[in-house]
Amino acid sequence: MTDKLIRGRLLSFKRAPLSLTDTESYLYESDGALLVVDGKIKAAGDYAAVKAQAPDGVEEIDHRPHLILPGFIDMHMHFPQMQVIASYAANLLEWLNTYTFPEECRFVESEHAARIATHFYDELLRHGTTTAVAYCSVHKTSADAYFAEAMRRGMCMVGGKVMMDRNAPQGLLDTPEMGYDETRQVIADWHGKGRNHVAITPRFAITSTPAQMEATQTLAQEFPDLFIQTHLSENHDEIRYTCELYPEAFDYTDIYARYGLLGKKTLLGHAIHLSEREADVLSEAGAVAVHCPTSNLFLGSGLFPMKALMRREKPVRVAVATDIGGGSSYSMLKTMDEAYKIQQLLGERLNPLESFYLMTRGNAEALSMADDIGTLEPGTAADLVVLNAAPTPAMKLRMETVKTLAEELFLLQTMGDDRAVVETYVSGNGMKPKHASM
Ligand code: GUN
Ligand code: ZN
Repeated sequence: MTDKLIRGRLLSFKRAPLSLTDTESYLYESDGALLVVDGKIKAAGDYAAVKAQAPDGVEEIDHRPHLILPGFIDMHMHFPQMQVIASYAANLLEWLNTYTFPEECRFVESEHAARIATHFYDELLRHGTTTAVAYCSVHKTSADAYFAEAMRRGMCMVGGKVMMDRNAPQGLLDTPEMGYDETRQVIADWHGKGRNHVAITPRFAITSTPAQMEATQTLAQEFPDLFIQTHLSENHDEIRYTCELYPEAFDYTDIYARYGLLGKKTLLGHAIHLSEREADVLSEAGAVAVHCPTSNLFLGSGLFPMKALMRREKPVRVAVATDIGGGSSYSMLKTMDEAYKIQQLLGERLNPLESFYLMTRGNAEALSMADDIGTLEPGTAADLVVLNAAPTPAMKLRMETVKTLAEELFLLQTMGDDRAVVETYVSGNGMKPKHASM
């Protein structure tokens, strides 16, 4: 692979910003460059200094005056729900039963799964997302399509075959044995191939019998390095029903705790309505609560107390995600716009530095993968997003009055979407689709 020098305004976080004026928390180079060798960042910093380290005749790509950031990371999506977005339902359980479960049944067909996978990765890259964590359907065919396409594009992706053995249509059910065997097969076929990571994926306690939860516990014990993803405390009716199904558990969180599913690699979608006890349990386990703002608003699930959870004496680790297709946008910019508004409604402040930290390094740390993704540090993958804060007439006009980096980021988050994404690099290769694929 040829070396590249990618020039523009660099922004990369070193740690979580403590305030809007915490300039120590990030690296910003107004005329910066990245030297990319073999798909990795070899050097990052001032253009002249980095250019001096580059071989003669290196290919130069000039993105000035645009910003270059680490590619966005989306911590919770559903690969088989691209055609579920914008489904009109009163709440989570109606939405699942009426639209989502029937749609996921189609992924038993490998041709359908492969077609949707192409679109899925096109949308990620169109929106500047270079890594995502997704649920496939119950069918192994869907996981095969998901990971095969990730490998074709060289992307770092996390995903799992959903395990579910009750409370869904017949075409969407496995059994404890099948769920266990097929998850093992997905691990054997895909984990560690290319940049793929398999996650153990019991959908949520409503769709798994105690026997299946035991099977997930066995998998978690056999593969302690794998991510575990599931849903937690998204909606009041869901919580009530879940606790009826597991009467021996203290609360919703306790169900997962009893099956040994809570640890530093556990990603819990939503986790909106937690008691103090549950938040303590998650904090002690080091499990991650994944905030899905567009989904929480769209399904009317509730207002996630992100800032309150982060500043507890026992803080809960937090990440951010689109939750396609309960979520309504593939854009992590739009996602943080809605996250901001949710905190506003809760009387909290979420500043733009924190938002951009969360979409990049914050999510990488939630995956314990900040040594490979989420920053522009030398040695990490050259997975990048290039952003233009003036891609539309209205944004261009507003940019005329923007004076600081923080203001520019806030404009990008508030008004930006895929039009603000100039290019998306995966391992140093420009990958943003130039045309809509059909
Ligand atoms: N809980 C269980 N399955 C799902 C899903 O597909 N989407 C959302 N938002 N919540 C869930
Ligand atoms: Zn989900």
